[in-house]
Amino acid sequence: MPRIGLFFASSTGNTRRIAKAIKKRFDDDTMADALNVNKATPELVAGYSHLILGTSTLGGGQLPGLSTDCMGGGWEEFLPQLKDVDFSGKTVAIFGLGNQDKYPDEFVDAMGEIYHFVVARGAKVVGLWPADDYDFIASKALVDDEFVGLVLDQENQKLLSDARVEAWLKLIAPQFGLGV
Ligand SMILES: Cc1cc2nc3c(=O)[nH]c(=O)nc-3n(C[C@H](O)[C@H](O)[C@H](O)COP(=O)(O)O)c2cc1C
Repeated sequence: MPRIGLFFASSTGNTRRIAKAIKKRFDDDTMADALNVNKATPELVAGYSHLILGTSTLGGGQLPGLSTDCMGGGWEEFLPQLKDVDFSGKTVAIFGLGNQDKYPDEFVDAMGEIYHFVVARGAKVVGLWPADDYDFIASKALVDDEFVGLVLDQENQKLLSDARVEAWLKLIAPQFGLGV
Protein backbone atom coordinates (compact mmCIF):
# COMPACT_ATOMS: atom_id res chain seq x y z
CA MET A 1 0.00 0.00 0.00
CA PRO A 2 1.36 3.46 -0.86
CA ARG A 3 2.26 5.79 1.98
CA ILE A 4 0.11 8.70 0.85
CA GLY A 5 -3.60 8.63 0.11
CA LEU A 6 -5.01 11.26 -2.23
CA PHE A 7 -8.75 11.95 -2.10
CA PHE A 8 -10.84 14.63 -3.78
CA ALA A 9 -14.36 15.74 -4.68
CA SER A 10 -15.17 17.70 -7.80
CA SER A 11 -18.12 18.92 -9.87
CA THR A 12 -16.79 19.99 -13.26
CA GLY A 13 -13.44 18.20 -12.96
CA ASN A 14 -11.11 21.04 -11.97
CA THR A 15 -10.18 19.51 -8.61
CA ARG A 16 -9.91 16.07 -10.18
CA ARG A 17 -7.45 17.39 -12.78
CA ILE A 18 -5.24 18.96 -10.10
CA ALA A 19 -5.37 15.78 -8.00
CA LYS A 20 -4.32 13.68 -10.99
CA ALA A 21 -1.51 16.08 -11.85
CA ILE A 22 -0.19 15.81 -8.28
CA LYS A 23 -0.28 12.00 -8.33
CA LYS A 24 1.46 11.89 -11.72
CA ARG A 25 4.61 13.29 -10.13
CA PHE A 26 5.05 10.36 -7.74
CA ASP A 27 5.41 6.61 -8.09
CA ASP A 28 2.84 4.09 -6.92
CA ASP A 29 4.81 3.17 -3.79
CA THR A 30 4.74 6.77 -2.67
CA MET A 31 1.23 7.88 -3.58
CA ALA A 32 -2.04 6.13 -4.37
CA ASP A 33 -4.01 7.10 -7.45
CA ALA A 34 -6.26 10.08 -6.86
CA LEU A 35 -9.62 8.75 -5.73
CA ASN A 36 -12.97 10.52 -5.83
CA VAL A 37 -14.49 10.36 -2.34
CA ASN A 38 -17.71 9.12 -3.90
CA LYS A 39 -15.80 5.84 -4.42
CA ALA A 40 -13.89 5.85 -1.14
CA THR A 41 -14.52 4.17 2.21
CA PRO A 42 -13.66 5.34 5.73
CA GLU A 43 -11.50 2.21 6.16
CA LEU A 44 -9.40 3.19 3.16
CA VAL A 45 -8.83 6.70 4.52
CA ALA A 46 -8.02 5.32 7.97
CA GLY A 47 -5.30 3.10 6.49
CA TYR A 48 -3.04 5.99 5.43
CA SER A 49 -0.57 7.80 7.67
CA HIS A 50 -0.39 10.68 5.18
CA LEU A 51 -3.33 12.20 3.35
CA ILE A 52 -3.77 14.84 0.69
CA LEU A 53 -7.38 16.04 0.51
CA GLY A 54 -8.70 18.17 -2.35
CA THR A 55 -11.96 20.04 -2.62
CA SER A 56 -13.71 22.73 -4.56
CA THR A 57 -16.22 25.06 -2.91
CA LEU A 58 -19.67 25.12 -4.48
CA GLY A 59 -23.15 26.46 -3.94
CA GLY A 60 -21.91 29.56 -2.16
CA GLY A 61 -19.58 28.29 0.54
CA GLN A 62 -20.58 24.63 0.51
CA LEU A 63 -18.77 21.33 0.35
CA PRO A 64 -19.15 19.63 -3.03
CA GLY A 65 -21.83 16.97 -2.94
CA LEU A 66 -25.22 15.88 -4.16
CA SER A 67 -26.87 19.16 -3.21
CA THR A 68 -24.39 21.02 -5.44
CA ASP A 69 -24.79 18.67 -8.40
CA CYS A 70 -21.69 16.53 -7.91
CA MET A 71 -22.44 13.28 -9.67
CA GLY A 72 -22.27 10.40 -7.20
CA GLY A 73 -21.72 12.75 -4.25
CA GLY A 74 -18.71 14.38 -2.65
CA TRP A 75 -17.36 15.60 0.69
CA GLU A 76 -20.86 16.59 1.73
CA GLU A 77 -21.74 12.90 1.96
CA PHE A 78 -18.29 11.47 2.77
CA LEU A 79 -17.16 13.73 5.62
CA PRO A 80 -19.95 12.49 7.95
CA GLN A 81 -18.82 8.92 7.18
CA LEU A 82 -15.39 9.83 8.58
CA LYS A 83 -16.73 11.03 11.92
CA ASP A 84 -15.32 8.05 13.83
CA VAL A 85 -11.96 7.91 12.09
CA ASP A 86 -9.08 8.73 14.44
CA PHE A 87 -6.78 11.18 12.65
CA SER A 88 -4.25 11.42 15.48
CA GLY A 89 -0.84 10.44 14.16
CA LYS A 90 -1.93 11.32 10.64
CA THR A 91 -0.38 14.11 8.62
CA VAL A 92 -2.85 15.88 6.34
CA ALA A 93 -2.40 18.47 3.60
CA ILE A 94 -5.39 20.13 1.95
CA PHE A 95 -5.83 21.91 -1.37
CA GLY A 96 -8.88 23.89 -2.37
CA LEU A 97 -10.26 25.40 -5.56
CA GLY A 98 -12.48 28.44 -5.68
CA ASN A 99 -13.37 31.57 -7.58
CA GLN A 100 -12.28 34.74 -5.74
CA ASP A 101 -13.90 37.07 -8.27
CA LYS A 102 -17.40 35.56 -8.20
CA TYR A 103 -17.44 34.35 -4.58
CA PRO A 104 -15.28 36.86 -2.65
CA ASP A 105 -17.27 36.37 0.58
CA GLU A 106 -17.08 32.56 0.57
CA PHE A 107 -13.74 32.03 -1.05
CA VAL A 108 -12.62 28.37 -0.73
CA ASP A 109 -14.80 27.98 2.39
CA ALA A 110 -15.05 24.19 1.93
CA MET A 111 -11.35 23.81 2.55
CA GLY A 112 -11.87 25.35 5.99
CA GLU A 113 -14.62 22.89 6.75
CA ILE A 114 -12.39 19.91 5.97
CA TYR A 115 -9.55 21.45 7.99
CA HIS A 116 -11.65 21.88 11.13
CA PHE A 117 -13.11 18.40 10.72
CA VAL A 118 -9.75 16.62 10.63
CA VAL A 119 -8.10 18.83 13.25
CA ALA A 120 -10.98 18.08 15.65
CA ARG A 121 -10.10 14.38 15.17
CA GLY A 122 -6.42 14.82 15.91
CA ALA A 123 -4.83 15.40 12.50
CA LYS A 124 -1.66 17.38 12.07
CA VAL A 125 -2.29 19.69 9.10
CA VAL A 126 0.70 20.95 7.14
CA GLY A 127 1.06 23.07 4.02
CA LEU A 128 -0.53 26.29 5.25
CA TRP A 129 -0.44 28.86 2.49
CA PRO A 130 -0.10 32.69 2.41
CA ALA A 131 -3.24 34.62 1.43
CA ASP A 132 -1.39 37.64 0.02
CA ASP A 133 -1.73 36.91 -3.68
CA TYR A 134 -5.52 36.58 -3.74
CA ASP A 135 -8.19 39.29 -3.84
CA PHE A 136 -11.19 38.35 -1.71
CA ILE A 137 -13.22 39.59 1.25
CA ALA A 138 -13.79 36.60 3.52
CA SER A 139 -12.92 32.93 3.73
CA LYS A 140 -13.58 30.22 6.29
CA ALA A 141 -10.34 28.63 5.16
CA LEU A 142 -8.24 31.26 6.97
CA VAL A 143 -6.55 30.63 10.30
CA ASP A 144 -4.42 33.49 11.64
CA ASP A 145 -4.54 35.16 8.21
CA GLU A 146 -3.14 32.11 6.43
CA PHE A 147 -5.01 29.62 4.30
CA VAL A 148 -5.20 26.14 5.81
CA GLY A 149 -3.89 24.68 2.54
CA LEU A 150 -3.03 25.39 -1.06
CA VAL A 151 -5.55 27.64 -2.84
CA LEU A 152 -6.05 27.51 -6.60
CA ASP A 153 -8.37 29.65 -8.72
CA GLN A 154 -8.72 28.14 -12.17
CA GLU A 155 -11.11 30.87 -13.35
CA ASN A 156 -9.01 33.91 -12.50
CA GLN A 157 -5.43 32.78 -11.84
CA LYS A 158 -5.05 29.60 -13.86
CA LEU A 159 -1.61 30.53 -15.12
CA LEU A 160 -0.31 30.60 -11.56
CA SER A 161 -1.57 27.12 -10.65
CA ASP A 162 1.34 24.97 -11.84
CA ALA A 163 3.88 27.05 -9.94
CA ARG A 164 1.65 27.12 -6.87
CA VAL A 165 1.31 23.33 -6.87
CA GLU A 166 5.05 23.01 -7.29
CA ALA A 167 5.82 25.37 -4.41
CA TRP A 168 3.26 23.71 -2.16
CA LEU A 169 4.62 20.23 -2.80
CA LYS A 170 8.05 21.55 -1.82
CA LEU A 171 6.47 23.00 1.32
CA ILE A 172 4.93 19.70 2.42
CA ALA A 173 7.82 17.55 1.15
CA PRO A 174 9.65 17.21 4.49
CA GLN A 175 6.57 15.98 6.38
CA PHE A 176 5.41 13.80 3.49
CA GLY A 177 8.85 12.41 2.69
CA LEU A 178 8.61 13.60 -0.90
CA GLY A 179 11.64 14.05 -3.10
CA VAL A 180 10.68 17.16 -5.04
C1 LIG B 1 -22.65 27.04 -8.60
C2 LIG B 1 -21.24 27.35 -8.17
C3 LIG B 1 -21.01 27.82 -6.90
C4 LIG B 1 -19.71 28.14 -6.48
N1 LIG B 1 -19.48 28.62 -5.20
C5 LIG B 1 -18.23 28.96 -4.82
C6 LIG B 1 -17.97 29.48 -3.52
O1 LIG B 1 -18.85 29.63 -2.69
N2 LIG B 1 -16.70 29.81 -3.19
C7 LIG B 1 -15.65 29.67 -4.07
O2 LIG B 1 -14.52 29.99 -3.71
N3 LIG B 1 -15.86 29.17 -5.32
C8 LIG B 1 -17.12 28.81 -5.71
N4 LIG B 1 -17.33 28.30 -6.98
C9 LIG B 1 -16.17 28.14 -7.89
C10 LIG B 1 -15.65 26.70 -7.93
O3 LIG B 1 -15.12 26.30 -6.69
C11 LIG B 1 -14.56 26.60 -8.99
O4 LIG B 1 -15.15 26.81 -10.26
C12 LIG B 1 -13.81 25.28 -8.99
O5 LIG B 1 -12.73 25.34 -9.89
C13 LIG B 1 -14.72 24.09 -9.36
O6 LIG B 1 -13.97 22.91 -9.22
P1 LIG B 1 -14.60 21.48 -9.50
O7 LIG B 1 -14.87 21.39 -10.97
O8 LIG B 1 -13.55 20.52 -9.07
O9 LIG B 1 -15.83 21.35 -8.66
C14 LIG B 1 -18.63 27.98 -7.39
C15 LIG B 1 -18.87 27.49 -8.68
C16 LIG B 1 -20.17 27.17 -9.07
C17 LIG B 1 -20.38 26.67 -10.47
